[in-house]
Amino acid sequence: MITCQAFGVDFLPSFSNCIAMLQTKIAGIGKYVPSNVVTNNDLLKYMDTSDEWIQERTGIKERRYADRTGETTTTMAVEASKIAIDRAGITPQDIDFIIFATLSPDYYFPGCGVLLQRAMKMKEIGALDVRNQCSGFVYAMSIGDQFIKTGMYKNILVTGSEKHSFGLDFSTRGRNISVIFGDGAGAVVLQPADPSTSAGKTQGILSTHLHSDGESAEILAMFNPGTHANHWTAERVADFNAAEAGDMFMSHAMIEKAQNFPIMDGPAVFKKAVVKFPEVIIEALTANGLQPSDINMLIPHQANLRIAQFVQQKLGLSNDQVYNNIDKYGNTTAASIPIALCEAWEQGKIKEGDLVCLAAFGSGFTWGSVLLRW
Ligand SMILES: CC(C)(COP(=O)(O)OP(=O)(O)OC[C@H]1O[C@@H](n2cnc3c(N)ncnc32)[C@H](O)[C@@H]1OP(=O)(O)O)[C@@H](O)C(=O)NCCC(=O)NCCS
Repeated sequence: MITCQAFGVDFLPSFSNCIAMLQTKIAGIGKYVPSNVVTNNDLLKYMDTSDEWIQERTGIKERRYADRTGETTTTMAVEASKIAIDRAGITPQDIDFIIFATLSPDYYFPGCGVLLQRAMKMKEIGALDVRNQCSGFVYAMSIGDQFIKTGMYKNILVTGSEKHSFGLDFSTRGRNISVIFGDGAGAVVLQPADPSTSAGKTQGILSTHLHSDGESAEILAMFNPGTHANHWTAERVADFNAAEAGDMFMSHAMIEKAQNFPIMDGPAVFKKAVVKFPEVIIEALTANGLQPSDINMLIPHQANLRIAQFVQQKLGLSNDQVYNNIDKYGNTTAASIPIALCEAWEQGKIKEGDLVCLAAFGSGFTWGSVLLRW
């Protein structure tokens, strides 16, 4: 009899049989949000906006901003990861792979994964950075799932973290974006599931579904610093002196013209999001022979409460089947799903055996879902 070494179990010597045995579970989860609470009214000192406008259009009441010099995207991820690792009953030295999702990295390069590896004194393990913006955590989970399924790794740390407050246009010019985003981090430890602890059902990730459509890549983007040199846009989105070496990737002119901030066509994002969110959730359910009524908890990426409500209505889900916390944290991009998942679980709203769906949509566009049995 040949054994599948990944689990030390005996079964037939077929690679596909070995893969079929493996399922990825969330063994530990943690979150971290900075202590600094910024209300909608606090933003009035920077821009022309109102608490009423923000709440009505987005559902956001407040968000957290990291300490400007004391906290970074990586340090917040470290705090969330410590909790996730502790709850998984392991130590940082047990982690054998890091997947770090963020659009607001400490450095342009190297990525945050290696900074986290260093800060947590981990072994010389692989560290992968994922740049899929709002769907970054879903993409990261999908990658982690593949490595667990094949038996390649046994303890994968997946984290999503953002320090948006360091790179937003706080003038009235940037108000359609700046009021939406907040800072924070979430993390999970992925491990092979133990088939015997699944409350009679298959525990762990059932399937993941990833998509992209680059047709509208420029409607929610931060162009600079970049190497595009206005190649993709009819409009000049980066001003620089072409004759001067070194004045193209980042120039004084770009900063003077505020081209170093993110831009967004909000209504266009909204329109696409309300189609793709339900689509990718249904795709996950269909792949597993399930229906919306089977979902115990949907954790949508916290882009906008109106989007989440639209999705809920379209799928016919009750309030108890959807968890939202954008009112407290705003949109924390790659961190929003793990923060919301962690909070829902801490509040006892997710129990063993529950069917949980994670779904995200964002810049790119990229979108995806993860269906799992808790
Ligand atoms: C951004 C969003 C809230 C804007 O709401 P909207 O109803 O579409 O508003 P519009 O962009 O059409 O702007 C309407 C008016 O509000 C103004 N406005 C924009 N931001 C404002 C703010 N923070 N405060 C007050 N007024 C604001 C605009 O200037 C515009 O004024 P005008 O009519 O005088 O020109 C909405 O489009 C949205 O949520 N889109 C999805 C964004 C998203 O989810 N992004 C993340 C993806 S992961």
